[in-house]
Amino acid sequence: MCGIIGYVGKQAAGPIVLEGLQRLNYRGYDSSGLAVLDHDGALAVMKRAGKLAELEASLTTPPAGRTGIGHTRWATHGAVSDGNAHPHLSSDGAAIVVHNGIVENYRALRERLAAAGVECRSETDSEVIPQLIGLYLREGHDFDEAFRRVLGEIEGGNAVVAMERRRPERLYAARLGNAGGIVLGVGGDEMFVASDVPALLPHTTLVQPLANGQWARIGAAETTIRDLDGAEVALAPQRVSMDPVAVAKGPYTHFMQKEIMEQPRALSDCIRGRAHVNPAGVSLEDVRLSDDQLRSLRRVLIVGMGTSMHAGMVGRYYMESLAGLPTDCDNASEFRYRAPLLGPETLVVAVTQSGETVDTLGAMAQVRDHWGAPRVAITNVEESEATRLAAGSAIYLRCGPEIGVASTKTFMASMAALYVLACRIGAARGHLRGATLERAIDALLTAPGIVDRTLAQAEICREVGRVCQDVEHMLYLGRGLQYPLAMEGALKCKEISYIHAEGYPAGEMKHGPIALIDRSMPVVALAPRDPLYDKMWSNIQQVQARDATVIAVGTEGDAELEAAADVFIPIPACDPLIAPFATAIPAQLIAYYLATARGADVDQPRHLAKTVTVE
Ligand code: G6P
Repeated sequence: MCGIIGYVGKQAAGPIVLEGLQRLNYRGYDSSGLAVLDHDGALAVMKRAGKLAELEASLTTPPAGRTGIGHTRWATHGAVSDGNAHPHLSSDGAAIVVHNGIVENYRALRERLAAAGVECRSETDSEVIPQLIGLYLREGHDFDEAFRRVLGEIEGGNAVVAMERRRPERLYAARLGNAGGIVLGVGGDEMFVASDVPALLPHTTLVQPLANGQWARIGAAETTIRDLDGAEVALAPQRVSMDPVAVAKGPYTHFMQKEIMEQPRALSDCIRGRAHVNPAGVSLEDVRLSDDQLRSLRRVLIVGMGTSMHAGMVGRYYMESLAGLPTDCDNASEFRYRAPLLGPETLVVAVTQSGETVDTLGAMAQVRDHWGAPRVAITNVEESEATRLAAGSAIYLRCGPEIGVASTKTFMASMAALYVLACRIGAARGHLRGATLERAIDALLTAPGIVDRTLAQAEICREVGRVCQDVEHMLYLGRGLQYPLAMEGALKCKEISYIHAEGYPAGEMKHGPIALIDRSMPVVALAPRDPLYDKMWSNIQQVQARDATVIAVGTEGDAELEAAADVFIPIPACDPLIAPFATAIPAQLIAYYLATARGADVDQPRHLAKTVTVE
């Protein structure tokens, strides 16, 4: 979850590292720091608690040197303070380290260090890494050996980037487990390393992620990658297609706003070439499962976390109705520690926009290692660990980088990817054929236009944000396909506006939450015209009878609902399967405008991070 950037080459490292930190700022932002090493071994280390601006303000002159590393922190062990910010150094300054993940055995390692006369200066687990490297260097090992030994000793998921004071012309990097990625970026006569691709894009699109268990010695002229047994791995970087311009905010105030507004395009890009009407069908070349394999499936299990899990909950309906298969959707952090019974007849679909969420990767590894069930990853990041764990069977979302911490466009695209996958399975199994298949594809192709038209309701959502900005609680209700959307609306509300919100299946509301309802509790009711509309209508009556303010999201032209509700947000008439794409827009925009009305930091909400790589 922390952001990491490193540079080695002929340019001044300080500005490159600082600019990389700005791009990584969405990963963690409670403190930041950098270290720059000059060719004569002079070392400058700067670190500050607080937003990156604090570090920038403290840098009156950029430090000299052509090798540097930087870090944005999301605290796990130790308070948010200057001293706990990265980089961390060995006591003698010989090893300089930035780290992402958790060194699970850090207490034991600290004791070992103390027994050797080394006292850690910070409260972090991370500091044991440079201190141990320093110890091995003092015992006479070279940096390669010291680094490799420490990688073998630290437990848990960890990503590490290090510099050696005595050899300023190179960097070290390693990925152990699923604590987040390490990507090498190959320039002309310079090398970059970062925790994810967007930080590298202004400099290079030629990248190579380190696989789990790989480490690299990175020099401008020569880079060596090895696994932990010492076997060399070829440096074979791939071109990534991400557009650096897409990482900029453009005319928008926030990345989240930009990403909400670009959802029609994100959806079209995700669907393009995959869903076609003539002949009706879907093409998913990247899903390497044959028709025979798809026909032998008896069940689907979708796993994910946060917003991706909510997309998975929508996907469950798609799998049931379009693929005709019993489907469950599970929270990956719960699933991975249960003992579910799976086999080759269960398809496991992992939804993770980053492809790096530790619990989702843990669930996939569990499935691979214990049950050998077929797996598909739905992700926005090519070459991510999720893709590897799915043995290359992936559906890329093609959304471009998503910078807003609260996911929006990747949620839309994940629902679309699940829809396409359900059609693919349904067609292979004969559940969808002829006119039914055509209708299903046709419906999906309307989604980008429907989302576009729903975005025109932004002003009403802004007004809801203005009027409701001082409430303490919100309730979101939905049924069927709208239940996950109610969960997603409430999550967005909590994430960025800090208003407590609950998302509930409307039928369940009577079994508890209704006790909370009074005039001060706005209820967002997602009630498009679908087969559950009449039931939803009754639930709206029930909350109105208890004085709640009802903000109804319904189908345009629904005069009855418009008259009954305090606020009515229309969505275009559409196939009920497509309605989640439309209702997602008010769900996102209400949260966005609540947050902006309250002056909250939309793109960097407190305590959150874009990619969660710790348990
Ligand atoms: C974090 C982000 C959410 C995201 C979730 C899952 O909590 O803040 O926006 O939905 O992680 O991330 P993934 O990358 O697996 O989709």
